[in-house]
Amino acid sequence: MDKIFDRFHAIGIIPVVVLDDAKDALPLGKVLCDGGLPCAEVTFRTSAAAEAIATMSKEFPEMLVGAGTVLTTEQVDRAISAGAKFIVSPGFDPVVVKYCLEKNIPVTPGTQTASEMLAAMNLGLKVVKFFPAETSGGLASIKGIAAALTELKFMPTGGINAKNVRDYLAFDKIIACGGSWMVKKDLIKAGKWEELSALVKEAANIVKEIRG
Ligand code: 3PG
Repeated sequence: MDKIFDRFHAIGIIPVVVLDDAKDALPLGKVLCDGGLPCAEVTFRTSAAAEAIATMSKEFPEMLVGAGTVLTTEQVDRAISAGAKFIVSPGFDPVVVKYCLEKNIPVTPGTQTASEMLAAMNLGLKVVKFFPAETSGGLASIKGIAAALTELKFMPTGGINAKNVRDYLAFDKIIACGGSWMVKKDLIKAGKWEELSALVKEAANIVKEIRG
């Protein structure tokens, strides 16, 4: 489990992907791998998610592919069957978290408050998602809570972009930042792979710049 989080840290930015058409998984996977962010959190907001996870996992073995917007244990099962290596949820549901732990798949539930984070820690988690990051106080909130929950690491997601991501990445309690700015849904739909490639490379370069 820790190995997956080591990879989160090494990659630094976790692209949050919404695919309407599973056919886009192949070109998008290539753009992400070639651009230096070999990772995708494919959200279960669309019916294409499971197939997209399966395609990316099969075609790009070097890629770390997980499932996002996982709300139920049934979706956990579908994500694992498709080949997901991690689970992300927008909120903290102890039932879903415990189920993931039973299945031995890393899970980062969305949390905002110290109470939710403490409850997650008491289930054995070492990493939580902080969501929606920017509207929940951003890095200042994380720093405030991290001062008390000293063992916890954070994956802020929501409202992060190429302008504000440096500050998050520079804080040592941030394992990685999640975001969709380099995998914009409209650009994927329009097949603008070169534009996406430039955004992915820019994001990967920011990780290098901050973390070396
Ligand atoms: C989401 O809910 O789509 C993710 O948290 C990503 O948020 P973002 O689109 O603000 O990066």
